[in-house]
Amino acid sequence: MPFRVGRVRSLTDVKITSTRFVRAAACAADEPKTPGAGVVFLGRSNVGKSSLINKLLGTKGLARTSSSPGRTQTVNFYRVNEVFDFIDLPGYGFAKVPERIRKLWGPMIESFLERHRERISLAVLLIDARHEPTRLDGVMQDWLVEREIPFILAVTKCDKLSGNGRTKTMRGVKKFARSEAVLTSSTNGTGIKEIWRNVDRALVA
Ligand code: GTP
Ligand code: MG
Repeated sequence: MPFRVGRVRSLTDVKITSTRFVRAAACAADEPKTPGAGVVFLGRSNVGKSSLINKLLGTKGLARTSSSPGRTQTVNFYRVNEVFDFIDLPGYGFAKVPERIRKLWGPMIESFLERHRERISLAVLLIDARHEPTRLDGVMQDWLVEREIPFILAVTKCDKLSGNGRTKTMRGVKKFARSEAVLTSSTNGTGIKEIWRNVDRALVA
């Protein structure tokens, strides 16, 4: 059945009425059974997933952030307006995580996407504006394309770049991207409206 946001037409105009942390799931059996659409956030460790979720929702500490990579090691569910979920996936590619655990992340994310394919309205794949997309970013993007999951790229931490740096980054990103790319900053709010526009569009589709 197609997902409906109810009376909320556009979250870029309409207030977010409620947000709450639902659960941190370490395995499929832990995942909440709440109905409705999901917007997933994925990207390498420390790229700014949890910060972007907080900025989008106008909350500060709802999603826990950290300057040490590998903070989010579970799949974290946040319920928005009691209608749909923001889902914070564990970051990949952090070298200091033990090999044994690192090896589990790929299959874990892949099986999550498979299990939730029907309810994922949009995936937001984050890449750091200051670095070239990594091989794993490419793998993630290819999975999304193969599974026909609608997605956008959020090019994070753009506040750390000069105007020239941004132009150069976006030139590189355009070559990599197989979907729309938005420059974002969870510090100064750049691109937040644009991300919401995409979320809106995906939720009401
Ligand atoms: P994991 O949970 O480890 O996968 O990390 P994450 O992707 O959730 O990153 P998180 O949001 O915890 O942010 C990592 C670090 O980057 C923190 O120190 C944040 O304050 C910082 N950060 C995140 N977004 C931005 C941004 O837009 N600009 C700047 N300057 N710093 C940011
Ligand atoms: Mg995180």
